[in-house]
Amino acid sequence: MEIEITRPDDMHLHLRDGAALEAVVGFTARQFGRAVIMPNLKPPVVNTEDAESYYQRIMNAIPEGHSFEPLMTLYLRDNTTPDEIQRAADSGIVKACKLYPLGATTNSDLGVSNINAIDDVLASMAACGLPLLLHGEVTSSEVDIFHREAVFVQTVLPQLLYRHPFLKIVLEHISTKAAADFVRSAPSNVAATITAHHLLDNRNALFKGGIRPHYYCLPILKTERDRLSLIEAATSGNPKFFLGTDSAPHSVGAKQSACGCAGAFTAYDAIGLYAQVFDEAGQIERLNDFASRFGAEFYELPQNEDRIRIVKSPHTVPECFPYEDTKIVPYRAGEEVLWRFVESQYTV
Ligand code: NCD
Ligand code: ZN
Repeated sequence: MEIEITRPDDMHLHLRDGAALEAVVGFTARQFGRAVIMPNLKPPVVNTEDAESYYQRIMNAIPEGHSFEPLMTLYLRDNTTPDEIQRAADSGIVKACKLYPLGATTNSDLGVSNINAIDDVLASMAACGLPLLLHGEVTSSEVDIFHREAVFVQTVLPQLLYRHPFLKIVLEHISTKAAADFVRSAPSNVAATITAHHLLDNRNALFKGGIRPHYYCLPILKTERDRLSLIEAATSGNPKFFLGTDSAPHSVGAKQSACGCAGAFTAYDAIGLYAQVFDEAGQIERLNDFASRFGAEFYELPQNEDRIRIVKSPHTVPECFPYEDTKIVPYRAGEEVLWRFVESQYTV
């Protein structure tokens, strides 16, 4: 079986920098027309100048023959100013700002310490129409890691919406039924991205036969009930839910370590992974809107003009890909997956 969809957009992607960027960007540029590029570099992308130079480095790293467009984001800090937001909006290349609660995830040690203390910046974003991308987890040590998102949704998010009713908000990489239910019942300026790995796996994957660092990501995988709720949201045809892979590459050594990094590398064939989910749910005809339409509409961008093909063709995911001066282990390495992007960069 083969399907054709409008070329999709990845509304949440980590591309890293330098040799890592060169190793991974081709995978995404082959499949996707655009991607929202996360700013959590070291040091992070905090102003328009940083975003412009990172944009150029990405463009220079794209293999020839692809018309891929990076949609840049700024990393909000306690000292970000409303003027900086205005400059970013005027630049035309910055499409959103990302809020990492301090300490929530990889490279979030310069994140925002108190979300209630940046009201002037959020007001400026609402005025410019720049969406706020939220890593929606509370980070206090007394909150269980599996409850961090639900507690954020129940405590922080309602206040934020109350204080900034016109701010466009994307709750990123949702992982719980609580988040899906909240977004569904929120006003139309609130949306969510959903990753392929949160649709394909529950938290048992972390411990199947032993501890499995390549399934460790943040937000951490949740229960089967949560996963089924995410599948329902993604395949429901509701425009509030759209594709964002959160493909987050880390070298094999950084993952397979006594203190391994969070992140799953799905970009190698993200659209194939999503096609498997939609097919298994009996909703393959809804993949086009989830992957190629709803995200563009939320960001007020035209849909991509060309189309891509995805084919049902069971195969084994490679054990690794080259990465920097070492290698990267992809999500589901060595396991069978059912669909693939027709022009995959890797041979199967
Ligand atoms: C991301 C990364 O490695 O940059 N990791 C992850 O597990 N998703 C950061 C993030 O999006 O939380
Ligand atoms: Zn991410």
